[in-house]
Parts: sequence; structure tokens; C-alpha cells
Amino acid sequence: MQKVGIIGFGKMGRKHFESFKRVPGVVVYGVFDVDPKKAKEAGVRIYEEHKELIKDCDIICVATPTDTHKKYILDAITERKPVFAEKPLCRTVEEADEILKAVKKNKAKVMVGHVVRYFNQYAAIKKALDDGCVGKPAIARITRCSRFPKASNNWFNSREKSGGVILDLMIHDIDFLIWCFGNVERVYAKDISWGKVPNRDYALAVLRFKSGVIAHLEASWAHTGGFRARVEVAGNGGLINYDSRHPASLKVEHCDGDIMRENPVDENANQLEIREFVEYVLNNTVPRITLHDACQALRVSLAAIESVRTRTVIKLKESCNSEDF
Ligand SMILES: NC(=O)c1ccc[n+]([C@@H]2O[C@H](COP(=O)([O-])OP(=O)(O)OC[C@H]3O[C@@H](n4cnc5c(N)ncnc54)[C@H](O)[C@@H]3O)[C@@H](O)[C@H]2O)c1
Repeated sequence: MQKVGIIGFGKMGRKHFESFKRVPGVVVYGVFDVDPKKAKEAGVRIYEEHKELIKDCDIICVATPTDTHKKYILDAITERKPVFAEKPLCRTVEEADEILKAVKKNKAKVMVGHVVRYFNQYAAIKKALDDGCVGKPAIARITRCSRFPKASNNWFNSREKSGGVILDLMIHDIDFLIWCFGNVERVYAKDISWGKVPNRDYALAVLRFKSGVIAHLEASWAHTGGFRARVEVAGNGGLINYDSRHPASLKVEHCDGDIMRENPVDENANQLEIREFVEYVLNNTVPRITLHDACQALRVSLAAIESVRTRTVIKLKESCNSEDF
């Protein structure tokens, strides 16, 4: 039985705790959190030193605020422990480069929780697109809206810590679109002026993919009506769309008629991603999200933030350091 240690026992740490408990071959052994009261809730061994937890465990899960990911990931990699880290991988490209170097040196396994790939509706859209159900994709519109997230010390309200709605929320859809359409060529983005309206954030971005696809993205932390996500992809053979308010069905509209596809499966995406991570660790199976993918999503998200800052279109570099991962 492989022992799992969880670093950070807030919203996502607790979710992953529940998921690891359901996966065969692993057991949650201990927890480290700067707030020991939170760690107590786990009912497992509480560590006062994260390095001790890393030493005692075989697998590490990092679910702390984004600006602290790098430290914990590096400490786990140095001990050659496989890591499941929440998205985004880390806060900056420089941090990602440090992680990549350490992964290479220690031959470590790191998987990042880009959970949208594990939602059945999104996986079904990806499959439908790969199967050519809309012909050649041309335009995508994608939306993710929620209330401002609650968290310890309101750390999401610090752009230095969270990266704001682009790095924290829009990155889900950026990753999904990269999964569907490949590399991004350039990005242009706008957001509301940070800090002037505390506990609110909203951003729009346009991505141009190398394949020619253009995607419009909207991400909101100013939505009072509850969570909502939507996807629409138009191609020369039809249109596919999904709305989280109607989660049971996936509608595919072909040029020559309509097809309704029911999606009867309601598996928990978080459990699915943790199971795939454990299989990657134990059986060497390749997960659907690689470290390279996570780095790409990070780079594009940070380029969108740079576009907001400079009010210019940002071109993504042709090659990047993560291609071997
Ligand atoms: N995949 C998703 O859908 C999803 C959703 C929400 C958040 N996230 C990501 O998960 C990560 C955690 O977010 P959350 O919503 O769980 O936040 P949270 O505030 O609920 O939990 C963070 C936990 O880490 C602890 N912590 C804070 N600083 C720490 C430090 N330096 N060392 C150790 N522990 C520390 C806090 O006490 C808290 O218990 C973030 O990277 C966030 O972007 C992902």
C-alpha cells in the first residue's frame, strides 16, 4: 500500500483526500497545513514539518495556494516522490523551468490537476471533435463563471498569489482548448482593473491557434447566479455545444440535421483524475494531462496576463523547455 501525504488541507486538499481514499493501492497517511486546525479534520497523522511528511510518504499531493506550489513540488521531487499538484503548476514561467529541471534530474513523476479534461462532457467534446463531428473546427466560444472563491486569508484576492481569474479559472479552459486544438500562436486579453473592485475579477481573451482555430474565452469571478460553464465549437461541418445548466445532454448539430447525444455517465471528475494519477505512479500508464501540457497552459495564461498589462497581442514562443515531458 503506497502512503499518500497531502500538503494543504483546504477546499482542494479535502477533495483529494476523499478521492485518494477511494483508489485501490494507496492510503492517505498524513497531512501538513500551516493551519494545524484544518489538518486535524483529516483524522490522520498531522505533521508539523512538511519535509518529514515527504520523507514518510511514497506519494505527495500539493493543494496549497498557487504561489507556494513550487517549494513543495521541488522538496518532494528532490526526495524522488511522485507529485500530484493542483493547477496551475506554479505561479511563473521561471518557477516552471526550475520544476522541469528538477523533474529531469530526479526522474520524477509530476501530474497537474487540470480537472476539466476529466469531466465527461468535456472529454466527450474532445472525442467528438477528434472524430470530425463538426468537420474542421474554426471558432470556439468558452465561458466559466462563478462567485469569487472563498479561501484561507482570501488569497485568491492577491494577484501575486493566485494570478487572478486568468491564471486560476480561465486556465481550465485554456488547457481544454490546447487539448483540443494544439499549440497557441498568439493571445490578446482584457480584464477588469485589479484592486479597484475587491473580490471581483473578470477577463476576456482571444486565442489564435497554430491550426487556425480562433477561440473566445470568458472567465468571471463576479457571477452571482451560481456556477456556469459553456462551450461552443463551430466547424465547416457543424456545431457542438455544452451548457453546465443542462449537464445531462450534449447537443451536436450537424449541417444536415440535429443529433442529440445523451451523456448518462456522472462520474466524479476529481476521483477520475486521482485514479489516473495513481495508475501513472503504480503502472506507468500515461495520464491524459502531461507535465508539458500543464506548462503550456501556464505559459498561455501568463501570456494573457501579459497582454492585459501591456495592452498588446502576445506571441507565444515557437519552442519551449517542456517539450520532452
Ligand atoms: N482544480 C480545481 O477545480 C481547483 C479549484 C479550486 C482551487 N484549485 C487550486 O487548488 C489550490 C488550493 O486552492 P484551495 O481552493 O484549496 O485553497 P484553500 O485556501 O481552500 O486551501 C489552501 C490550504 O492551504 C493552506 N496553506 C496556505 N498556505 C500554506 C503554506 N504556505 N503551506 C502549507 N499550507 C498552506 C491553508 O491553510 C489551506 O488549508 C490552488 O492552487 C488553486 O488554484 C483548483
